[in-house]
Amino acid sequence: MFGKKEKSVFVNMNSMLTKARNEKYAVPQFNINNLEWAKYILEECECLKTPVILGVSEGASKYMGGYNVVSKMVEALIKDLNISIPVCLHLDHGSSLEVCNSALQAGFSSVMIDASKYSLDDNIKITKSVVDIAKKYNASVEAEIGHVGGTEDNITSEELFARTDECIKMCSLVKLDALAPALGSVHGLYKGEPNLDFTRMLEISVKTSLPLVLHGGTGIPDDKILQSIDCGICKINFNTELQLAWKRHVDNFVSQNPNVYDPRKVIGSGEKAIKAVVRTKVTLLKSDNKA
Ligand code: 13P
Repeated sequence: MFGKKEKSVFVNMNSMLTKARNEKYAVPQFNINNLEWAKYILEECECLKTPVILGVSEGASKYMGGYNVVSKMVEALIKDLNISIPVCLHLDHGSSLEVCNSALQAGFSSVMIDASKYSLDDNIKITKSVVDIAKKYNASVEAEIGHVGGTEDNITSEELFARTDECIKMCSLVKLDALAPALGSVHGLYKGEPNLDFTRMLEISVKTSLPLVLHGGTGIPDDKILQSIDCGICKINFNTELQLAWKRHVDNFVSQNPNVYDPRKVIGSGEKAIKAVVRTKVTLLKSDNKA
């Protein structure tokens, strides 16, 4: 069957991030874990009339059934909920060319290739192969340099921070849409205050002229979020903060309603909490109330 290919409902993040860089604000990436997460985030961003990037990790995709399920589910939500804002469906931390390709084939409009565990030259080689494929899908690509730690290691060691010369080399050899230089942020909860290298962030932004991405948005104080936008960050990823807010409310609901077992009521009791975090972050990232 050679049916006419339908136009994708997703946009890539290139124009979103270019606009954000020019106008000095940041676009949020909210990671989704299930249908409810996607629905609540889309509804709240529609209400705020603000573009959004939905991040999907490999683990979250597996949990939901695979890239095709995620892509079709979000596409259907956009249609049935009459969502009119630009929505980018983005693979978060794709670990290989094959994984990125699967997400692109399923309809994702953007991928992150995270080859940061390899040497710089291998990182560049793998990232370039993803960019070549993404081009065929008109999809955007984000790469990572340095290492963004996790809760378990809570890395703040400067040895693992991205180096400016490495970022320049990567960007001169590969046509990226966004770069995530690891500069002290971690995924999950911070032990103490985040230690972000703003001087290097600004230097990388000026020397690469690329929209920069800040991973590990949860737990970064508002003034540091605003300072990072001043230093060239155009996209900030949030995941754990939504999960924590959701869990707090669901715990509360379950303890106050021990006889309720309808999953729609239990899961849905966290709706307002997720939407409140989305609203707070969108407002913060767009504010010109800079530090
Ligand atoms: P947090 O879970 O710390 O918000 O980080 C999210 C993230 O960076 C996804 O890539």
